[in-house]
Amino acid sequence: MKEKILELRHLQKHFHLSRGRILKAVEDIDLDIFEGETFGLVGESGCGKSTLGRTIKGIYEPTAGQIVYQGKDTAHMDAQERKLYRRDLQIIFQDPYSSLNPRMTVKELIAEGLEIHGLGTRKEQEERVFETLKLVGLSPEYVTRFAHEFSGGQRQRLAIARALAVRPRFIVCDEPISALDVSIQGQIVNLMKDLQRELGLTYLFIAHDLSMVKYISDRVGVMYLGRLVEVADKAELFANPQHPYTQALLSSIPIPNPNIERERKEIPIEGEIPSPLERIPGCSFKTRCPFAVAKCDTMAYELRDVGNRHFVMCTKFQ
Ligand SMILES: Nc1ncnc2c1ncn2[C@@H]1O[C@H](COP(=O)(O)OP(=O)(O)OP(=O)(O)O)[C@@H](O)[C@H]1O
Ligand SMILES: [Mg+2]
Repeated sequence: MKEKILELRHLQKHFHLSRGRILKAVEDIDLDIFEGETFGLVGESGCGKSTLGRTIKGIYEPTAGQIVYQGKDTAHMDAQERKLYRRDLQIIFQDPYSSLNPRMTVKELIAEGLEIHGLGTRKEQEERVFETLKLVGLSPEYVTRFAHEFSGGQRQRLAIARALAVRPRFIVCDEPISALDVSIQGQIVNLMKDLQRELGLTYLFIAHDLSMVKYISDRVGVMYLGRLVEVADKAELFANPQHPYTQALLSSIPIPNPNIERERKEIPIEGEIPSPLERIPGCSFKTRCPFAVAKCDTMAYELRDVGNRHFVMCTKFQ
């Protein structure tokens, strides 16, 4: 069994809006991520995936709960440990157009993290920039160019290089390919897979595209309104989805084999999404669930072990 690299314990992130309103973007997340794996995170727009990723990265302060990195609670780290955590844990954003400063050269963009973390002499930093460009498949001739001179795919390679320059161990990948042309999405995903193998990286891979998650992940978590409702190994989840929301999500993926595709029945998700400002008691999917029963009003917010490393939050297992 691989070591746990990151443990989230009852993690919450609430946003305080005007007039005292509170938006509970991340309600309560309990999750272990293991060294070297790719954990795919899926769920519809607004369910809190990016907020979770940004909270792990430290862009947002958690409202409650713990983030434990390599056995150490990040809230109790000393300055040195915190510095290392900030370096070990990097993030890649969805949009390589807005995430890269257009006034910085490629060299400055890649070296920025090295500067911030005070790593190496000027000469060593320069060498690291060239090494990193090579890792992501960009020509060393690009060092003096600016981000706006590049195509979307090249920019995302640059964003990956920026994250990799400090040689992190864990990368939050927040929909890193969604903004790219379909024809180059595969190249970037394959690059990320190669880098993971070569550098021993762990990924939290946030995505909309379930086929891509199926391709890249080792385990998958399905998020609904701030909570994980199902977590399992990829093969188990795709073969044996248990939560009605997961079943509906998976039913929407086209199957490449036309004979089976003809038989595929898409389960529509109908009904109202409860507002993240006014959470309803019990299961938050019950307003849209075809199997909702009275006891869904009092469902316990617990992922129950249904065997085969498969966990589900649903009254059918309570
Ligand atoms: N900085 C913020 N201030 C206030 N509310 C926010 C903030 N960031 C996100 N939210 C809200 O928190 C909820 C979760 O948003 P989040 O961006 O995490 O969702 P997501 O799952 O990443 O969605 P998408 O798939 O569209 O990227 C949403 O209701 C969103 O409007
Ligand atoms: Mg998002």
